[in-house]
Amino acid sequence: MGAPQGFLAPAPARRVCGGGLEMTGAQYAERTLVAYRMHAGRAAANWARAQRKPSVFLKRFAAGLPPGGRALDYGCGIGCEMAWLRRLGFRVEGVDGTLDFAEAARRRNPGVRVIGLPFSACRLEGGRYDGIWSNAALIHLPPAVFRSELQKLRRALVPGGRLGLTLAWGRRKGVLTGDWIPGRYFACYTLPEALRFLKGWRVLEARTAVGEERSGRWIRILAEGQ
Ligand SMILES: C[S@@+](CC[C@H](N)C(=O)[O-])C[C@H]1O[C@@H](n2cnc3c(N)ncnc32)[C@H](O)[C@@H]1O
Repeated sequence: MGAPQGFLAPAPARRVCGGGLEMTGAQYAERTLVAYRMHAGRAAANWARAQRKPSVFLKRFAAGLPPGGRALDYGCGIGCEMAWLRRLGFRVEGVDGTLDFAEAARRRNPGVRVIGLPFSACRLEGGRYDGIWSNAALIHLPPAVFRSELQKLRRALVPGGRLGLTLAWGRRKGVLTGDWIPGRYFACYTLPEALRFLKGWRVLEARTAVGEERSGRWIRILAEGQ
């Protein structure tokens, strides 16, 4: 998957749709999961075939974890990055709201806990993780929901635990059409805009990168909970 191209329409957190119905942030998140569910087989096969190598950024995230530490992959997809972290000796867990992906992540990581729930329904134990990795997943939440999920992730980290976060770079927010998985909501951010969501974190690294792991421009943020 590369950076998103071509939006149908900008989508604020609450938007009046046809027939007087209002679409909330939660509904955009649900709509994205429906899109993933409909195309799960093809997406899982593509991602498995791509066999991406661990990115420079994933390696930097892992380098800051204590040996054998506990790491959560939030929006783990089919669990490839979990598998890589596990091979390094970390105790990993995953969360993904697309049940087919959560199941594939379990198969790839036998014995590992993978929670198959939407982020909004996922309660995380406070102070449980030394590190939380979230690669190209919180991009599917409208900004207000993204903000509250980041707060939840901060509470789930041990003091000084680290977050590795990637976001799609850009200025638009909306539902993607004409894509290989149409119907997903994307929220893109510029770097200064993204950093405004990181109040209460100590940001260790924040940069944009082009074509490093996925095509297009992506934001990479490494931060510590305080
Ligand atoms: C672009 S994929 C990235 C997957 C994986 N992190 C990777 O880098 O390969 C986005 C992932 O986020 C998950 N996701 C999107 N919205 C979600 C939500 N509201 N709750 C839980 N998972 C969600 C999708 O199911 C999908 O696996």
